Amino acid sequence: MTAEITIDQIANYAGQQVTLKGWLYAKTGKGKLQFLRLRDGSGIVQCVAFRPELGDELFAEIKSLSQESSLIVEGTVRADDRAPGIPGGFEVGISHVEVIQDAEDYPISPKEHGVEFLMDNRHLWLRSSRQWAIMRVRATIKRAIIDYLDNNGFLNIDTPIITPAAAEGTSTLFEVDFFDEQAYLAQTGQLYNEANIMAFGKVYCFGPTFRAEKSKTRRHLAEFWMVEPEMAFYDLDDLMTLEEEFVTYIVQTTLKERAAELALLERDTTMLEQISPPFPRISYDEAIERLQAIRDATDDPELKELLKIEWGEDFGSPHETELTKQFDKPVFVYGYPTQIKAFYMEPWPDRPEVCKSVDLLAPEGYGEIIGGSERMSDPEVLIEAIRRHQLPLETYHWYIDLRRYGTVTHSGFGLGLERTVTWICGIDHVRQTSPFPRTLNRMRP
Ligand code: 4AD
Ligand code: MG
Repeated sequence: MTAEITIDQIANYAGQQVTLKGWLYAKTGKGKLQFLRLRDGSGIVQCVAFRPELGDELFAEIKSLSQESSLIVEGTVRADDRAPGIPGGFEVGISHVEVIQDAEDYPISPKEHGVEFLMDNRHLWLRSSRQWAIMRVRATIKRAIIDYLDNNGFLNIDTPIITPAAAEGTSTLFEVDFFDEQAYLAQTGQLYNEANIMAFGKVYCFGPTFRAEKSKTRRHLAEFWMVEPEMAFYDLDDLMTLEEEFVTYIVQTTLKERAAELALLERDTTMLEQISPPFPRISYDEAIERLQAIRDATDDPELKELLKIEWGEDFGSPHETELTKQFDKPVFVYGYPTQIKAFYMEPWPDRPEVCKSVDLLAPEGYGEIIGGSERMSDPEVLIEAIRRHQLPLETYHWYIDLRRYGTVTHSGFGLGLERTVTWICGIDHVRQTSPFPRTLNRMRP
């Protein structure tokens, strides 16, 4: 009797005969022994071929197999603390191998490849263990996001992807021909969620979001996933309290459920483990002062130049990176200048040059993962803001209506999935967190 199992179940089968179906990840050996590292999507296990047991013919066939050959392996599971793999601690003594296909020469070998080459071969690169680990972390983060919101009174609701107007600035719009009318791919679902909360209280949308970002940075994709919770009767403080609980839940769930994947990525999780509410909250004014102080203190002329900033200007990634290095948790920066933020943010009382916005910057240099704000609740103030931003008033009539029929204080935020995965995995570029990323120079494969 042999049990057909996946590698993640192997610990339940010590001493038993099993059948595994997968691909040959790597192979070493000498003399009468060959060690096949078999992967099946659920894990990786070392399978040992011993010539006296298999006979010369089968042993020779196994020895000549190329990387990524597809195989069905039968054998006995043995517990062995030293056995490498995921989960590790078990190996399989091979009794039989059926070769489905001896693969052609595989283009990705264990030697170093450039990132562009690997991205051109993304359809194959996804099989390698680091990419495998990142995608599994991503899936867990996604589920943690949904679990948290579903368990805390939010209704999941979908917002349109084809939209008639800009919501987050006109410079990053993807144009769509909508039956001869100009339309755009959604930059955010937020405006629709503001309508939704007046019907459902607390809502979120979670889906693909599009920005024609014309810069090559390690934080920008043209297509990314954003979760956008929106809440009636929440002010800026309520918003920050929700965000710190939400992010804590995501981080702690991922640490618990994806410890093996994070270990494979060699992620030092010390700082992630410390994450719990409350997170530090600093104003934009204070952030500018801190940046000034960092500039004054550094002897590095390059950094001095990079950190140049005047009150009223937006942060670039060097500013965010240096700020986050001052804290061991994510840090809120609130009260940005109105002129650098979207049109819908509530003005600060008695200080209209500042708005009730808040960004959450991830530690260890990662920077912004969340953007959010309290929303304008007064129809006249909103109309004035739409005019000031030279946006088409007619397109927003329904949005202004929300301030006419029972307006309330309300707030919301957007968390970028890929930036969150980048931070939690501790990797240096957002493109590795999307299975098939779209960036300025890439929409293939
Ligand atoms: O700060 P943003 O532009 O905010 C909004 O879109 C609001 N409407 C959200 C809301 O309040 N409902 O984007 C929110 C987050 C950013 O903090 C970042 O994590 C991610 O979305 N993001 C991107 N991620 C990858 N590539 C890009 N080009 C991104 N642009 C934004
Ligand atoms: Mg932002």
